[in-house]
Amino acid sequence: MEGRLKDPSLGLRTAVAVAALLLCRFPACLAAAAGAACDFLAIFNFGSSNSDTGGLSAVLGQVPPPNGETYFHKPSGRYCDGRLLIDFIAEDLRLPHLSAYLDSVGSNFSHGANFAVAGSSIRPQTTIQGGYIPISLNVQLVEFSDFLLRSRIFRSGCVFSRLLPQEEYFSRALYTFEIGQNDLTSGLKQNRTIDQIKADIPDVMTQFSDAIKKVYAQGGRSFWIQNTGPLGCSIFITDQYHREAQDDEHGCLRPFNELSQYFNTKLKQAMNSLRTELPLAAITYVDVYSVKYNLITQANKHGFQQPFIACCGHGGKYNFNNSRRCGFKATVEGKEIVIAKSCKDPSVRVSWDGVHFTEAANRWIFEKIVDGSNSDPPIPLNMACHRMDH
Ligand SMILES: *[C@@H]1O[C@H](CO)[C@@H](O)[C@H](O)[C@H]1NC(C)=O
Ligand SMILES: *[C@@H]1O[C@H](CO)[C@@H](O)[C@H](O)[C@H]1NC(C)=O
Ligand SMILES: *[C@@H]1O[C@H](CO)[C@@H](O)[C@H](O)[C@H]1NC(C)=O
Repeated sequence: MEGRLKDPSLGLRTAVAVAALLLCRFPACLAAAAGAACDFLAIFNFGSSNSDTGGLSAVLGQVPPPNGETYFHKPSGRYCDGRLLIDFIAEDLRLPHLSAYLDSVGSNFSHGANFAVAGSSIRPQTTIQGGYIPISLNVQLVEFSDFLLRSRIFRSGCVFSRLLPQEEYFSRALYTFEIGQNDLTSGLKQNRTIDQIKADIPDVMTQFSDAIKKVYAQGGRSFWIQNTGPLGCSIFITDQYHREAQDDEHGCLRPFNELSQYFNTKLKQAMNSLRTELPLAAITYVDVYSVKYNLITQANKHGFQQPFIACCGHGGKYNFNNSRRCGFKATVEGKEIVIAKSCKDPSVRVSWDGVHFTEAANRWIFEKIVDGSNSDPPIPLNMACHRMDH
């Protein structure tokens, strides 16, 4: 492939492959660990704000500055000062950053597309209120199917073809999923109890599995499934529920973390069943929950500061006020100025805006998941096309 560099970290990859080999207990796993890197040709991502690279911005207007200040030096559709986990994934696979499917200007989908839109959930929302968005996972799947169909129609000769993936890229792509937290928080917004939200999770999982089956039916084979992060350590949750909920020893709210853990247990089970149902699928379940919990609760040890204070915000106990979020402007002495500004040094901070992570945190999290040590099965990102039965 043109323009793709020889892997400079081959030595590291070999070391990782050897480490994966040591973690293996099963013949198929050994084969994959010893096997070649996958050479993914594209990435298709489904998700919400943690992986939105411009979907919501294309619909509701660009995210405001100072979003994007660290890396893009301007707003880039991301709720972050810089790059997201999905950007680090793309870079690691030597692929370009993903354009948002909904973004009609300047997009190049030749190596993938991003269907993620901030505020999206797995299940369709019954009421559109409180910032939830109707582009739920089933709608993202409709978009994907349409995208696939039209990429075929425009395959050759046409002016669009250079901006679309080639036919074989769809089977040689990595399909990434980062979605689910909004299914939990929308339940909270509707004043449902944690037990009521838990009772919905089996249905949420059925809909998640259906989405993966639909991609599989259209030729997708490699799936990278991120679980949901520790909700009870999120500033927007500690800000809202602090007085009502029980703290753990680190300052996270235990009932909300238990809700995320319950979701993740069910997700892991659903992925195990899917491996049986889809004989050619390589499904990697990635435990970002543990990585994020470790980062937030041991921030100082990892070189970060103030994990419970948002870098970008204005007022409130945690530098977070839901009605004055990052980039919020106010008129002061007749002039409109940004009052919810960035902190001095986002590179040592965990939370960017009280909801999303900083680029520095995203990079740290990425480094902990790229080698497969937090995945089930424990295979590195660039080997995630290999199926391992266990
Ligand atoms: C789209 O992106 C690919 C990969 O970065 C690049 O090779 C190609 O030239 C781009 N196409 C256009 C029409 O800009
Ligand atoms: C949830 O409860 C709060 C406080 O009691 C109330 O203000 C709000 O309207 C309720 N929301 C819904 C969706 O019922
Ligand atoms: C949050 O912002 C609202 C509206 O701008 C304001 O009325 C409220 O006092 C703020 N809350 C805190 C804790 O600063």
